[in-house]
Amino acid sequence: MPRTVIRGGLVITAAEEMHADVLIEGEQVVALAATGSDVADGWTADRVIDATGQYVIPGGVDAHTHMQLPFGGTEASDTFETGTRAAAFGGTTTIVDFAVQSVGSSLRAGLDAWHAKAAGVCAIDYAFHMILGDVNESSLKEMDLLVGEGVTSFKLFMAYPGVFYSDDGQILRAMQRGADNGGLIMMHAENGIAIDVLVEQALAAGKTDPRYHGEVRRELLEAEATHRAIKLAQVAGSPLYVVHVSAASAVAELARARDEGLPVFGETCPQYLYLSTDNLAEPGFEGAKYVCSTPLRPREHQAALWRGLRTNDLQVVSTDHCPFCFTGQKDLGRGDFSKIPNGLPGVENRMDLLHQAVLDGHLTRRRWIEIACATPARMFGLYPRKGTVTPGADADLVVYDPTAVQTVSAATHHMNVDYSAYEGRQLTGRARTVLSRGTVVVDGDAYLGRAGHGRYQQRSTCQYL
Ligand code: URP
Ligand code: ZN
Ligand code: ZN
Repeated sequence: MPRTVIRGGLVITAAEEMHADVLIEGEQVVALAATGSDVADGWTADRVIDATGQYVIPGGVDAHTHMQLPFGGTEASDTFETGTRAAAFGGTTTIVDFAVQSVGSSLRAGLDAWHAKAAGVCAIDYAFHMILGDVNESSLKEMDLLVGEGVTSFKLFMAYPGVFYSDDGQILRAMQRGADNGGLIMMHAENGIAIDVLVEQALAAGKTDPRYHGEVRRELLEAEATHRAIKLAQVAGSPLYVVHVSAASAVAELARARDEGLPVFGETCPQYLYLSTDNLAEPGFEGAKYVCSTPLRPREHQAALWRGLRTNDLQVVSTDHCPFCFTGQKDLGRGDFSKIPNGLPGVENRMDLLHQAVLDGHLTRRRWIEIACATPARMFGLYPRKGTVTPGADADLVVYDPTAVQTVSAATHHMNVDYSAYEGRQLTGRARTVLSRGTVVVDGDAYLGRAGHGRYQQRSTCQYL
């Protein structure tokens, strides 16, 4: 088996920081030893990667992506091939994408379709959650089978009536089933029925610009749905993971529930930490670039999100990567904001935006690794294979340059989308060398990986409870 040693870096995990050399055999980390120690100096290897002055971190685990998702009358513009390659450039080595059960169809059919999209093309490892788009007797039974084959989390929507929406009865039944079979319920918590009334009223009043997307998707309707989801989970006796939390009042609902000792978890995304309704209100139709749901909030909400990440009322930062090109896709909603496909690109930027948060004093280095690598791996049953640097773990490693300065731009990113939500933003820190299961897939600006290197990962049930 080929041996690689990464020498001289500062190894950072969620638990500790140490100046250590890392020995890789084949696809796995087999040993760590203090840099300069007799043990480390005695290691021979086929390849030595010099990490002096760099961090050595676990590859990022992005637990919320939507590659080539059919949505809003179009399809997310990154394929599994382009999206996972972009993820690798950004230091992410595992994604958990959402397979979709459509109305009238089975979980099996949806999952098979997503396997077919991803098989043989991914640059990095991947796993699936399942979107329950049609909760009924037979799909509830199928949940058990999916848990058995490593799809151990299920997303439900309180939003998007007529598309993905589930009513409270369906949600309760799915939660009860999850409580029984170990599947973790993930919730899109917005009151979609009420939102649709406000959308109709806004459009009737001639309010058609992108900024009205943020206005009708009221903060109170995120807080109310979050509260309701928590209570339904409490009745079902199931844990709950609320996705893409953007409102301060929703964080407060999660914090209150957690203070009561409930197994309730929350995820936020870089767009809610760095962008705001100011972006939605950009002139012309530019605001469409920032249309996603839950929506961007006034910037005052950001402090509550950062605080939630520090206090562990929010545990995970994922991207909800769901890119649509400005030209040809976002512009489906010119003259009617409700027709703008919902979603933002970001799979390539997450690790760097969160490293910037370390430099800005929002997070410690270990907390950066915890929310971006270790906790998503534990939450979704991939730990310690993914999310940490330890003997026996997959050698998904990033040699990270904490001093490299970059300017984010669509002109240089690798995502298949014609704009960047962070265009022109200067960030300090960048993945220099990225290994996926012991193979160097990115070295500087060079892509050394291949489509199909990435393998499907069966997951165990939640390890965070
Ligand atoms: O706007 C978003 N978030 N698009 C992706 C679908 C979802 O709700 O996560
Ligand atoms: Zn959602
Ligand atoms: Zn999503």
